[in-house]
Amino acid sequence: MNYKTMFSLEGKKAVVTGGCGYLGKETVRGLVDYGAKVAVADSRITVDDAYAADIEYMECSLDSTDAVKEAMRKAAGNEKKIDILITMAANLGAGIQSGVEDMDDTYWKKGLDGTVGYTFRTIREALPYMKNSRSGSIINIGSLYAVGAPDPRTYTDTPFSSTPNYGAGKAATVELSKFCAAYLARYGIRVNSISPGSFPHPNVQENRLFKERLEAKTMLGRIGYPDDLVGAMIFFASQASKYVTGVNLMIDGGQTAW
Ligand SMILES: NC(=O)c1ccc[n+]([C@@H]2O[C@H](COP(=O)([O-])OP(=O)(O)OC[C@H]3O[C@@H](n4cnc5c(N)ncnc54)[C@H](O)[C@@H]3O)[C@@H](O)[C@H]2O)c1
Repeated sequence: MNYKTMFSLEGKKAVVTGGCGYLGKETVRGLVDYGAKVAVADSRITVDDAYAADIEYMECSLDSTDAVKEAMRKAAGNEKKIDILITMAANLGAGIQSGVEDMDDTYWKKGLDGTVGYTFRTIREALPYMKNSRSGSIINIGSLYAVGAPDPRTYTDTPFSSTPNYGAGKAATVELSKFCAAYLARYGIRVNSISPGSFPHPNVQENRLFKERLEAKTMLGRIGYPDDLVGAMIFFASQASKYVTGVNLMIDGGQTAW
């Protein structure tokens, strides 16, 4: 093992769903910097001008199996190979129904499908190409709320909320990762999840009360920023983690450790 190159992604093909989003964009940049060829599957393409030359953008809605199938086929290219799959995209659907009492069946199902459903569908359709890699790495995205409940006091007197279908879908995503780790080991594919803590978008950060409450919940005394995730993404994607599978890594400033 050459330790100087153990994090290298040279020659690797990576697919990132939701790669145009707040966290996805920075992860894509990290993959490119480490040498991967990256294909982004997102329903709303926003081109990252600084990195566009190294990224293949595929407009695709993960609601449609046919669209996911086609995106994976395109990303795999002539080599018919995908080495790294990062399933970032999530969508709870329009509107916010945050309470257990008022959440209807449609919204409940949308939240589950927009989290673990997207993840499952993407893995299933990428699999024929990942098997050809023989050393594939899948990274799914969980959440702080996959392993613990949101504290309702954090949200009091703010316009924000966290919904029961989101946490349930993310907990299922973490479990799906472990299932797939066991099931796909036979193909040399490793599967791990990364669970971000509080990474509020810039517009949410403008609410000082909310931001301060989130900060106070962490050991490190601050919210997360997209670049806080990139080191772990490269670790899981590369041979540096070749004996790591079935792990859910919390990146939450210590929030779940106390
Ligand atoms: N931001 C946080 O605080 C936080 C915390 C924990 C976990 N997460 C998870 O991290 C991931 C990324 O979060 P984010 O904050 O970057 O969100 P984001 O909304 O900025 O990005 C999500 C991306 O997914 C895409 N997307 C949505 N529906 C899609 C569909 N049907 N088909 C294809 N693409 C679709 C969107 O266009 C967007 O680019 C999500 O899985 C989220 O649940 C975020």
